[in-house]
Amino acid sequence: MALLDLTRFGRAAPRFLDMAPAQADFARAVIDGLSRPEKQLPCAFFYDSIGSALFDKICDTPEYYPTRTEISILRDDGEAIAQRLGRAVQLVELGSGSSLKVRLLLNQLEAPMGYVGLDISRDHLRMACERLAADYPTLEVTAICADYHDEVPIPPPRDGMPRRRVGFFPGSTLGNLTPPHAEAFLARWRHVLRFGGTEGGGMLIGIDLRKDPAILEAAYDDAAGITATFNLNLLARINRELDGNFNLAAFRHLALWDADRGCMSMYLVSRLNQIVRVADQRFAFLEGEAIHTEDSFKYTIEGFQAMARRAGYTPAAVWTDPDGLFSLHWLEA
Ligand SMILES: C[S@@+](CC[C@H](N)C(=O)[O-])C[C@H]1O[C@@H](n2cnc3c(N)ncnc32)[C@H](O)[C@@H]1O
Repeated sequence: MALLDLTRFGRAAPRFLDMAPAQADFARAVIDGLSRPEKQLPCAFFYDSIGSALFDKICDTPEYYPTRTEISILRDDGEAIAQRLGRAVQLVELGSGSSLKVRLLLNQLEAPMGYVGLDISRDHLRMACERLAADYPTLEVTAICADYHDEVPIPPPRDGMPRRRVGFFPGSTLGNLTPPHAEAFLARWRHVLRFGGTEGGGMLIGIDLRKDPAILEAAYDDAAGITATFNLNLLARINRELDGNFNLAAFRHLALWDADRGCMSMYLVSRLNQIVRVADQRFAFLEGEAIHTEDSFKYTIEGFQAMARRAGYTPAAVWTDPDGLFSLHWLEA
């Protein structure tokens, strides 16, 4: 019996490219971060399958305004946004998570040539892209598990050259980088988006805006404690994957607005003096000592556009919600 070539019917399973960082990178980053005088852990490691599922739950909390606000902008201004992106584009989503917001774009775009979801959370990415491919049967879907700080070769669609390549980076995930790193990141991806032979691409990027610190602190410390569980999952992941013995009850979640740096910062604070083991290393914690786990920088529209210009882009359009909580920028590459 001949196997059906489902690609002919537009119902292929997504292409899956696995360039995930090695487990040794996780171990190295944890040992290095906990050995520093001011302990820290890289926020990319929040996202294993459990962390990604917890992030989706955070998005549903009443306090976490960014997700529903960005969705409302994509809904209200979807037509204008799609016009800016243009027809026959290859859409590359960075930190694609559950690939939910992109559906609002896909519903508006004219004849997109392909979708590439790029995320570090392997199983979550795979399932999200499988769901997307099932719901958009004529769309060519590619899932790439990788760290977007690495050089990631993006394959062109199988069915020919797109008119241009467009990056989609929602969720204000860029805010997890310090402004100099964010600028360098944008500049590096600009070269990927301007790839040979196409009409010059662009980036559609969601950026959270500066606001009353009380709104921000509530968003990063919801009453149901889901963000706290998300933060603590990093220690649970170290226990699971690196033979750690963190007692999660001995740490508490803390989220603070840092007015000097313009960011929300998250910490895990030791409730007592304690020694923790990770692999074959031991780390001493004093009562009140913190592990810095995440920064989320907030911008003004003008401040973000100035940074995008320095990274080589032309900020060509911006959409916001009526309360000015969140912004979605179209940057020509
Ligand atoms: C704040 S969540 C946003 C998810 C989704 N894009 C949204 O807007 O709701 C950040 C996403 O980026 C991914 N991510 C974080 N660091 C990453 C890295 N270094 N490389 C690739 N993906 C990363 C996470 O797995 C997660 O899905």
